[in-house]
Amino acid sequence: MKFKVDKGRSEDYPCEILLLFSFESHDSIEGPLLKVDQRWKGFLSELMKQGDFRGERFQCHLLYTHGLLSAKRVLLTGLGKKDEFSLETWRGASSKAGQFIRDSGIKQLVFQISRMESFSEKELAEAFVTGLMLGTYQYKEFKTVEKEKNKEIEEVILLGETEKELDLIQEGLREGRIISEAVCQARDWVNAPSNQATPTFLAQQAQKIAKEYGMEIQVFDVDQAEAMGMGAFVAVAKGSKEPGKFVILEYNKGKNLEKIVLIGKGITFDSGGISIKPSEKMERMKDDMSGAAAVLATLKAAAELQIPLHLIGILPLTENLPGGKAYKPGDILKTLSGQTVEVISTDAEGRLILSDALAYGLRYQPKAIIDLATLTGACVVALGDYVIGLFGNDEALLKRIQKASDETGEKAWQLPLWDEYFEYLKSDVADFKNVGTRSAGAIIGAIFLSKFVGETPWAHLDIAGPAYIEKERPYIPKGGTGVGVRLLIQLLRNWGKG
Ligand code: BES
Ligand code: ZN
Ligand code: ZN
Repeated sequence: MKFKVDKGRSEDYPCEILLLFSFESHDSIEGPLLKVDQRWKGFLSELMKQGDFRGERFQCHLLYTHGLLSAKRVLLTGLGKKDEFSLETWRGASSKAGQFIRDSGIKQLVFQISRMESFSEKELAEAFVTGLMLGTYQYKEFKTVEKEKNKEIEEVILLGETEKELDLIQEGLREGRIISEAVCQARDWVNAPSNQATPTFLAQQAQKIAKEYGMEIQVFDVDQAEAMGMGAFVAVAKGSKEPGKFVILEYNKGKNLEKIVLIGKGITFDSGGISIKPSEKMERMKDDMSGAAAVLATLKAAAELQIPLHLIGILPLTENLPGGKAYKPGDILKTLSGQTVEVISTDAEGRLILSDALAYGLRYQPKAIIDLATLTGACVVALGDYVIGLFGNDEALLKRIQKASDETGEKAWQLPLWDEYFEYLKSDVADFKNVGTRSAGAIIGAIFLSKFVGETPWAHLDIAGPAYIEKERPYIPKGGTGVGVRLLIQLLRNWGKG
């Protein structure tokens, strides 16, 4: 999809298809819609009056202009009720319009960005591009037949009338594109099968990004991790012949910038290990590296956006398999923090690899440490696949995350970390166990992690639900979602603003 910004107006710009959006009430025709209506002798208002197009949310209506406009076709898309309008609706509407055009086989679209409600041209351009790119995403890497049909929008032209508008649109387009490309990249990694997206593959992807953006990178293999004392990460990695990798990627925009550590769970396939999972839906467990994918994609986007921060991405990457050297229930592991853990279930492996990553992250003495993990099925039970489970020990950090969540539509809901539940993790033979009770499973997983962050402001995002969806959403096709990328980037973009 190529983008271009050009000076022009909806009613007289020649193109394959022109996009117009409308609210539900037909007394409120305004902006480009009004101009086109006037040029078209009231045809659009007539259409709305007759009820052929009501502007219902995401309703699409295709029209041929028969030479009465410079555009060959017009696509009307509904925005729903005006007083319910938000950027989230806007992303959904641009996605639905994009999907309609793609599926019709039309290759070029034009849309004039002009102020709507309280939103600036920049915000509208960014959200438009986001909806369009994310909504038309498809994972086709392994398709040999459908690929050939190649139904893809080739060119998108955004119009503005004044120089000021054009600048704002250009900015929104640039940022929307960088962020959306990062989300699509994360989706590609999540959707990739585990026989492709191995720890080695993801470490190579990190190396590629490091090289391209001049970041520092360290890739430790399992022997090195063992020598460093990462007993928990190593125990999980030893269950597979596929070599594990512990990756640290650093993006630093300048001197003395605030340090933020981002950690992503990177289990490239979670069979459960010796505590093996039931086979039903086990194929989904290729998504257990969604946290790592989100962190890696975020670092790439942060570098492209030149965000003024010092970011440290930590990716513990390994499979969780029941090989001959696999760790076993009852084993006691010595973690990098020095604390010992009794293994109750080898399927609670995420918290183990994260415990070493968190302990490693503390060495940077960061301002904040944030982990993303498909950690617990219990979180899916509690919050479903729409919402991120949010935990943390620092109100200010949680507030920042909540704000980024509100702005991006990546919903997060805070759950408590009450220490009463720590009781359940007490072990007779080690400092604690890796599993407590079945009830409050998401909370107990988070409490386990909290034992490895000390006093450092920390947040844990349990993305087990929204990382992978079975049913599409307005601008999220089914499969890997890339959840967390937009939220993290928004958080980092807002960081300096307090
Ligand atoms: N990767 C899973 C969590 C998961 C489950 C993610 C379903 C997405 C969908 C994790 O490693 C796991 O298996 N957790 C166990 C923990 C339990 C043994 C305490 C779980 O949730 O059952
Ligand atoms: Zn597991
Ligand atoms: Zn897992």
